[in-house]
Amino acid sequence: MDTFSTSQLQQICDDLAGPGWSLQPMALSVDFSRELAAECRRRAEQGALKTAGVGRAAGAQVQEGIRGDAIQWLEPGQAPVSDRYLALMDTLRGELNRQLYLGLEDFECHFALYEPGAFYQKHVDRFRDDDRRAVSAVLYLNEAWLAEQGGALRLYPEGVEPKDVLPQLGTLAVFLSANLPHEVLPSTRERLSLTGWFRRRGQAPF
Ligand code: OGA
Ligand code: MN
Repeated sequence: MDTFSTSQLQQICDDLAGPGWSLQPMALSVDFSRELAAECRRRAEQGALKTAGVGRAAGAQVQEGIRGDAIQWLEPGQAPVSDRYLALMDTLRGELNRQLYLGLEDFECHFALYEPGAFYQKHVDRFRDDDRRAVSAVLYLNEAWLAEQGGALRLYPEGVEPKDVLPQLGTLAVFLSANLPHEVLPSTRERLSLTGWFRRRGQAPF
């Protein structure tokens, strides 16, 4: 069964309550991470991943100068392996609610593929017109990533040096969506991830 250990869950909660971001280098087993990577590649080969937009739903616009990844949202029932990931993240959602009283209602996530050279400019994950995203969680799906290949997630915590995270297979980065500016640096190789957000109840302004 795929589970987080008690100490992983505790570490993530403590980190979010403290600095506001958490890194788990071996969050998932290698096998599970590889299965997710294979699922992402399978979807890419089928043409299911589409150039991502900037902004929310209907207002989203493709702006290649800002972000250059191709994505597909996970929906329950698409594949056993993606369902297992959604179930796993639901256990993290429960723990965040229990320990930090965040009132997280759901988790939305998408596979993302950055072709060599693609990047995502510095941003925060909360939209101007929708503040439901509370906690961001990115799982990386790339074997044997080297620093010189670029592609780091660069976090900009307030008052300290920027922190680079390599998109290494099985690494999970979790951070508070509203407070932490970050960017994805261009890489020399294809870069796969599963990027998601725990959301609070809220009203979309229609
Ligand atoms: C995003 C994002 C980070 C990453 O999709 O909003 O910041 O490392 N992704 O893929
Ligand atoms: Mn982001």
